[in-house]
Amino acid sequence: MKEKLQQIRERAIAEIQNSDGLEKLGEVRNTILGKKGELTAVLKGMKDVPPEERPKVGQWVNETREAIESILAEQTKKLEAEALRLRYEAEKIDVTMPAVKPAKGNLHPITQVRNQLTDIFASMGFEIYEGTEIETDYYNFTALNTPQDHPARDMQDTFYLSPEFLLRTQTSAGQIHVMEAKKPPIKIISPGKVFRSDDDATHSPMFTQMEGLVVDKGITLCDLKGMLDEFVKKIFGKNVTTRLRPSYFPFTEPSVEVDVSCFQCGGKGCKLCKGTGWIEVLGAGVVNNKVLEGCGVDTDVYSGFAFGIGIERIAMLKYGINNIKLLFESDLRVLNQIDD
Ligand code: DAH
Repeated sequence: MKEKLQQIRERAIAEIQNSDGLEKLGEVRNTILGKKGELTAVLKGMKDVPPEERPKVGQWVNETREAIESILAEQTKKLEAEALRLRYEAEKIDVTMPAVKPAKGNLHPITQVRNQLTDIFASMGFEIYEGTEIETDYYNFTALNTPQDHPARDMQDTFYLSPEFLLRTQTSAGQIHVMEAKKPPIKIISPGKVFRSDDDATHSPMFTQMEGLVVDKGITLCDLKGMLDEFVKKIFGKNVTTRLRPSYFPFTEPSVEVDVSCFQCGGKGCKLCKGTGWIEVLGAGVVNNKVLEGCGVDTDVYSGFAFGIGIERIAMLKYGINNIKLLFESDLRVLNQIDD
C-alpha cells in the first residue's frame, strides 16, 4: 500500500509540474483527488484493510494528499502569476508612442461662415432674429414694397406652396416681422435658408442669406457705409475697402450694390476680380419709407438701413470655390480642406 501511495504521489507531482496551464492543472487535480480520482479510490479501499492497520494507512493517505495539495497550490500560484504577466505584457501601453489622433470633424463651410458673420455682427451689437422658411406672399413681397404685378418679383423665381404661402426667397421677410413686433431702435441680423428656382454654377435652388436691419433716429447711408467697411475688414482682411454702386431693390431707396476691393490682388486686377480690382459681395440700401410706414414706424423720426448677404457667395470667395454645388455635395475631400 505504501508503495502504491508513493507511486501515486510521484506521478501526481510530475504531472502537476508538467502542467503548463491552469486548465490542465484542474484536470490533473480531478484525476487524482476528484470523486473518481486515484487517491479517492485508495480511500474507498480502506474497508479491505485490516482494522489494526487502518490508522497507519489513513495517515499515509493523508500525508500523500497533503503533499499533492501543497504542490498543486504552489503550481497554481506559479501559473496564475504567469497568466497575469502575459496579460500585462499583452496590454502594455507604451506611453512614449505618438498618440493616434482621433479623426476630427469640422463644421460645414456654410455654418462656419454663418458663425463668423454672426460673431462679427454680434460684436457690433446686432441681435439675431431667425425667421421661418415658409412665408406668406405678404411678408416676402408685398410688405417689402413688392406688390403683385411688381416687375421686381421677376428677379426672384419663387416656389409657391399655395397662392398665399411660399418658400421665402429672401431673408428680407424677417425685417417686417421684427418691425411689427418691436419699436425702434432696432439692430438685427437674420440668417437662414432661402429658396429660388435657380440652378447654375453660382446659383442653387436653396441657399443661405444673412439679412441686416438697423432702424433708429438719424440713420443714413453713411452709417451703412461705415458699418460695412468695418465688416469687410473683419471678414476679408484689414486692407479691404468698400465701394457702393447704385442699384435697385424695391424695399430700399437709395439702393446700392456693395463691392469690396479684391483681397487677392489688392485691387490691381486678377482672375478672381475679373481684372476689375473689385468684387461684388452684397446688396444694401436705406430702408424705403413705404416699408417703414407699412410697419407703423414714424418716418419723421426714424430711418434705417438694410443689407442682404449671400453666405455661399462669401464662402466661395473666401475659400476659392468656383462651383456652388461643391458646397452641397458633402464630398469630404472638399469639406476637410475648410476648417477655419
Ligand atoms: N433681398 C435681396 C436679395 O435677396 C438682398 C438685399 C438687398 C437685402 C438689399 C437687403 C437690401 O436688405 O437692403 O436679392
